[in-house]
Amino acid sequence: MASELTYRGGAASPSAGAAGAAGEYSSPKPASSKPLAWLPRAARYAAAEHRPLFALVGMLVAAAIFCLAAPSGSGSGTAAPYSSSGRVSGALTRFSVDPAAHNPGRQFVAGKVPLGLKRKGLRVLVTGGAGFVGSHLVDRLVARGDSVIVVDNLFTGRKENVMHHFGNPNFEMIRHDVVEPILLEVDQIYHLACPASPVHYKYNPVKTIKTNVVGTLNMLGLAKRIGARFLLTSTSEVYGDPLQHPQVETYWGNVNPIGVRSCYDEGKRTAETLTMDYHRGANLEVRIARIFNTYGPRMCIDDGRVVSNFVAQALRKEPLTVYGDGKQTRSFQYVSDLVEGLMRLMEGDHIGPFNLGNPGEFTMLELAKVVQDTIDPNARIEFRENTQDDPHKRKPDITKAKEQLGWEPKIALRDGLPLMVTDFRKRIFGDQDSAATATEGQ
Ligand SMILES: NC(=O)c1ccc[n+]([C@@H]2O[C@H](COP(=O)([O-])OP(=O)(O)OC[C@H]3O[C@@H](n4cnc5c(N)ncnc54)[C@H](O)[C@@H]3O)[C@@H](O)[C@H]2O)c1
Repeated sequence: MASELTYRGGAASPSAGAAGAAGEYSSPKPASSKPLAWLPRAARYAAAEHRPLFALVGMLVAAAIFCLAAPSGSGSGTAAPYSSSGRVSGALTRFSVDPAAHNPGRQFVAGKVPLGLKRKGLRVLVTGGAGFVGSHLVDRLVARGDSVIVVDNLFTGRKENVMHHFGNPNFEMIRHDVVEPILLEVDQIYHLACPASPVHYKYNPVKTIKTNVVGTLNMLGLAKRIGARFLLTSTSEVYGDPLQHPQVETYWGNVNPIGVRSCYDEGKRTAETLTMDYHRGANLEVRIARIFNTYGPRMCIDDGRVVSNFVAQALRKEPLTVYGDGKQTRSFQYVSDLVEGLMRLMEGDHIGPFNLGNPGEFTMLELAKVVQDTIDPNARIEFRENTQDDPHKRKPDITKAKEQLGWEPKIALRDGLPLMVTDFRKRIFGDQDSAATATEGQ
């Protein structure tokens, strides 16, 4: 027994025979005569027990399992969720964000979808998604099969705008103020949250600028953290009361920094600055749209924007209020044209900023005439004193969007207005009917 122990230990040969157990332990042979004698005692023991062989086999088995389990392409960390056309390949899932696709400088390994879970489409966050523009964007995104999360504090937005998606597993709505941080896992962020009409953004100017600055910072921070692509909906208001006509994206604007509209104008300008700083400083994939006046169904009634004002007034048989002499011009794009432009911008390769608007220019008086023709030819026009800082002219130069996004508006004012009138008629007379019923019931 003693000799067997001695032999397996490699410290003495079996020929040592009956030299005595005590001797074998107390006086081993000189180190030079033993194989691997130069190794430390513990290593010699492990070698003699064939443990490296077992460890090697174990490592090989583990490596084989790892290789079989890893998703194809994940090893390189460059699996791209976008095809060359910019559309998602369907490889993204709720569990695998692949920011490397958006940020080539950063390498992420896409995760594997656990067995039994289906791969899902692109996950898109729309802040302000319960508002006028946001809700139309959500309709398009859901229709193309994306999973959409709306974050909205419902300041100017309405649940009714997105209620038709309730119950759809690809739709979620979170009542949340973007001024507070939030953590979500998405692939794209359309950042629209901000009151857009003068009545609403002047209601609490400090909150408006906070939404534009802190809210945008929060969403940019989120985009950076999760590697999502970020699109900012800026505005033609960044041009202020422009001295250049029509406005090109390279024009820096003529903005009053201390006026009553500054919370919005300067807020959006700062939001653009932050967006570009995140792009340059954090390698974030960003897009900037400068939206010009947009109209369509689901606009807030009585929000002070000229088209909704005129339509609501004409339907209620009230005079159409024109501020100033009515010769100031605006361009009006139908909401579906804008949504198409926003999606092309998000999916395309260009950062922007891009003017998204209809270059067809109307004076307020011409617009009033179209509304009269569409709703009530006898509608009266009433002139009021102009509001402070109201720009005199606004018309987008959309050459850049045409060339780089292949986009231009398609719907003429005379075609789009009746669609909006139908929606307003339903909401105004529906509301009045229910109000009348409620009053009668008291
Ligand atoms: N409609 C236009 O003509 C126009 C023109 C230029 C720019 N834009 C921009 O497009 C975006 C959408 O405009 P819209 O016309 O749909 O306006 P909207 O007021 O209908 O929608 C804005 C949405 O943002 C939400 N919101 C506001 N503050 C928020 C906050 N702090 N946290 C979370 N949600 C908040 C509102 O509840 C609302 O649902 C805005 O960023 C606006 O500046 C619109």
